[in-house]
Amino acid sequence: MATLAFQFEEISPRQLKPELYELDGISRESVEAHYSLYEGYVNKRNEILGKLDGVDLSSANQVYSEIRALKVELSFAIGGIKNHEIYFEHLGGGGGDPDGLIASLINRDFGSVSDWRADLKASGMAGRGWAWTAYDWDEGRLFNYVGDTQNTYPIWNATPLIALDVYEHAYFLDYQTDRASYIDAFFDNLDWRTVNDWVSKYQIQT
Ligand SMILES: [Fe+2]
Repeated sequence: MATLAFQFEEISPRQLKPELYELDGISRESVEAHYSLYEGYVNKRNEILGKLDGVDLSSANQVYSEIRALKVELSFAIGGIKNHEIYFEHLGGGGGDPDGLIASLINRDFGSVSDWRADLKASGMAGRGWAWTAYDWDEGRLFNYVGDTQNTYPIWNATPLIALDVYEHAYFLDYQTDRASYIDAFFDNLDWRTVNDWVSKYQIQT
């Protein structure tokens, strides 16, 4: 019997930093809602890789639809992990206007901080699940992208620096249907030091 076989390591959820329980305008309950979903995505990722490792290749047609379903579900789980890890890491700051390298990038590529913020907010209002500010390595500049779900629509060779979660669980407890006020609160809690650390780590040229 031929089976798929590959090496993979199980991963564990990262711990939340304490500042996330003291955000302005985003409650502890909302952060916990994100975290329990995030834990679920980590478990799902481990579970799917375990299932793929050992898929029986002997009944080809059936097995390809099984592999497809598992790999699509895997991209959803991994999207939920990566998006939330950015979200958790770059909240807990004082918001306001960016400074340092990210301010230079935003001003260069959007014209002004207010134009960048307006575009990201509109992207967050337009998307069903996520909006990102990402650096596109091929174009050498920032863009704001829209995502409907965890695994739509990432752009190849672009690195997300800001991940705005606009799924209903992100705002419904605190703002009911008022997503715009939640997005304002998101901006108010951004930690620009973290974003600047990423710009430095990735060696993005400003
Ligand atoms: Fe979330």
